[in-house]
Amino acid sequence: MTKNEMIYEGKAKKMWSTKECEDYLIVEFKDSLTAFNGEKKSEEVGKGALNNKISTEIFHLLEKNYIKTALVEMIDDNHQLVKKVDIIPLEVIARNIATGSLTKRLGIKDGTVLPFTLVEFCYKDDDLGDPILNDEHALILKAVKDQSELDYLKAEIRKINEILKDFFAKKGLKLVDFKIEFGKDKDGNILLADEISPDSCRFWDMETNEKLDKDRFRQGLGGVKVAYEEVLKRILS
Ligand code: C5P
Repeated sequence: MTKNEMIYEGKAKKMWSTKECEDYLIVEFKDSLTAFNGEKKSEEVGKGALNNKISTEIFHLLEKNYIKTALVEMIDDNHQLVKKVDIIPLEVIARNIATGSLTKRLGIKDGTVLPFTLVEFCYKDDDLGDPILNDEHALILKAVKDQSELDYLKAEIRKINEILKDFFAKKGLKLVDFKIEFGKDKDGNILLADEISPDSCRFWDMETNEKLDKDRFRQGLGGVKVAYEEVLKRILS
């Protein structure tokens, strides 16, 4: 498949229509790093290719475990072919360990293992700063059709969390929390979309709790690329 016109450019990705098929899009993973709703920006050469490879591996693992995704195939270092979907405007977040915005919001001590996996929704709206939503907010905003769709998203992220938590534990990584997005294809099927990578997950080393994710950039810890390379190395090990 070949690129036709660019239809979207976001903080970390560009999307292109294809010359051959209107049901498919080409995604380009960029090297840009952003945090705090785009306030902090940088470039890390090779980051796009790392996220493309990591996300492809994770989506393949999920497909093997009967999670339906929009990924068709990785095309080359920075590109994927995906099914065209209408993105549901919700960030769906699962948390196993308290950190990040949760600790700030609720005063839970950083690193506390939660008694059960917490699932949250945020509204995908940069102007509003992606606010956290409860089910009723999501329904009032018509982010989804009805409660059964919200329930489906919650059940899917819990399944995905179990698959990934076990997988990464075997690789010596704690899956602290992660964000995913879903979209609807032309037949109305809800598919896992976007990416799952160290940009959208928190990974801590099982022994040392060293951060191997975008918090290295958010917190100015350095070693971003080395950390992402380590995540890919462990996935492939
Ligand atoms: O910042 P917060 O603690 O709410 O992030 C929870 C999880 O969601 C983290 O893994 C973070 O990387 C991810 N996230 C994301 N994109 C956002 C907000 C959070 O990938 N816009």
